[in-house]
Formats: sequence, structure tokens, C-alpha cells
Amino acid sequence: MDTVYLNGSYLPHAEARLHPDDRGFIFGDGLYEVTPFYRGTPFRMPAHMARMRKGFCELRIQPPAVDLGELQHELIRRNGLEGEEMAIVYLQVTRGTAPRTHTFPDPDVPPTVYAWARSFRRPAPEAWEQGYGAIRVPDRRWARADLKTVQLLPNVMAQQEAKEAGAADALFVRDGLALEGGQTNLFVVSGGTLLTHPASNQILHGISRSAVLEVAEELGLPVEIRPIPDADLSFASEIFFTGTTAEVRPTVWLDGKPVGDGKVGPVARQLYAGFQEKVARECGLHAGV
Ligand code: PDD
Repeated sequence: MDTVYLNGSYLPHAEARLHPDDRGFIFGDGLYEVTPFYRGTPFRMPAHMARMRKGFCELRIQPPAVDLGELQHELIRRNGLEGEEMAIVYLQVTRGTAPRTHTFPDPDVPPTVYAWARSFRRPAPEAWEQGYGAIRVPDRRWARADLKTVQLLPNVMAQQEAKEAGAADALFVRDGLALEGGQTNLFVVSGGTLLTHPASNQILHGISRSAVLEVAEELGLPVEIRPIPDADLSFASEIFFTGTTAEVRPTVWLDGKPVGDGKVGPVARQLYAGFQEKVARECGLHAGV
């Protein structure tokens, strides 16, 4: 993370400075994306950028004039990350810097654009094989969880609680429904069917979630995209979470109780292998990832 991008310049990370009146700092008035690069090639950049554009539109943030995809490639190059098995680029765009008013700045100000890239280490295969824990937490987020805003306090509190419980994922539950993780989407296998919550306003429409659903379809697995009652989780044979940094993360215990037989299940295993194949195909990695 030596060279970062800030408002039109590439500069050393240690020299990056933001104005304290930036609306990202004052109001959490901004959006972000985390895009994975595998050996220098992004996985599904157009989908990440489309999600950000939808956010600009819904939040009426002026889209930056710079090519956001190109700047992410440039950060990978400038940080020498092209050869890394996996790297991530974090990109944040806020409504810009202006004296504090709840209403939008008038006249308009340019959006703030900040991005960094760093190498990302996947878990060792042995750690993945052992599986992970999850805890349930009440979902206290606002009603637009589909927008990837930087207002992540409920997620921060939930993930910290998970960490303190020795778990990897906090599972948001609202009105009796198990929705998604603090930084991941939820999948459940119940009665031989793969379940995941519909892409509504209550969850982030994960790019990894879509890729995993495609893999499930290619494998001919029975899939139902429908709300998942929290009470049904105790009957699940498998639970796993998906996300850019988690990829496919199997849950072997939930709130201290084993999920299924308490081991990583066959569906998570098959879908993770299929996901990796998809990444390898789309990112042109022939030796596997
Ligand atoms: N998190 N749900 C939430 C609440 C998320 O924050 C994320 C991503 C996902 C998975 O989305 P995707 O598959 O597009 O990464 C689901 C990012 C990685 C983060 O906050 O670091």
C-alpha cells in the first residue's frame, strides 16, 4: 500500500491528506467498493462499477470525472501487485468537501476519490478445511443495505462482537429472517436445497453471491432464492458466507452449536471449487488459483 490515489494524484500513502470537512468524515456521505484482482486481473470489475454507479444515482452523488476502473488497474501496477495471487483495491467516493450542512453542498463541489491497493492473503487450505464460526446479531442497519455506503457502524459493531466470540461472521437477523453477514452474503443448505435471501433492499447484492449462484446453476443444484427464517437455521445441513475477501467461507458452528455434522459440507466444497474455476477462467489463470 505504498502508492495511493487521492483526488487526481498518485502519491505515497504517508502523504495522503483529506480535509476534515469532507462529507465522508462528517456524515458518512459516501460509497465504496472492494474489487479483487487475481494475478493482476480484476474479477468482475464491470459488476463492481455498475454497483457503484447505481449508488451514485440513488444517493445523487456526482460521478467522478476520472475512469474509476482504470485507476484501480494503475494502482495495481504502481504497487507492483500484478503477479500477486490475490490483491484487493479499496475505492471510496464521497460527496466532497464543503461547510457542514445536512443538505447537499450548494454550489456543487467535486466528489472526493480515494483508493488503495494491497496484497491479500487467502486463508491456508487447512484453516478453510476446519471451517469457521458465526454468531447471530440483530440487524440495526438502515433500510438501504443494498447501497454500499461507508456508514458501516452496525457492521463494525457486529463484526467486532463476532471476533470476540471467536467467530468469522456476524449474521444479521431482522424480523425473524437471517439476511446476510456483516461483510458477506449468506447461503444455507436445507433439505438438499441451496437458499439465499433475494437481492432486495435488505442485503448487499454481492458480486460473489451472483458468481456462486451461477456455479450452483451450472452444477444443477436445487436453488431457492427466498427469505430464510432464522428459526430454520438449526435444521440447516450447511451454512456458508460469500464475499470478495471471504470468497466462500464455510460455517461449522453457529452461536456455539454445530451446523449439520459440524464439518465443512459438500455443497460449500463444490461451490468453492467451482468459484475458483470461474475466477481462473475469467482472470486467465491457467495454472489454477
Ligand atoms: N464486503 N454483504 C455485505 C454487508 C458486505 O459488506 C459485502 C462485501 C458483501 C459481499 O459482497 P461482494 O461479494 O460484492 O464482495 C455482502 C466488502 C468486501 C467489505 O466491506 O470489505
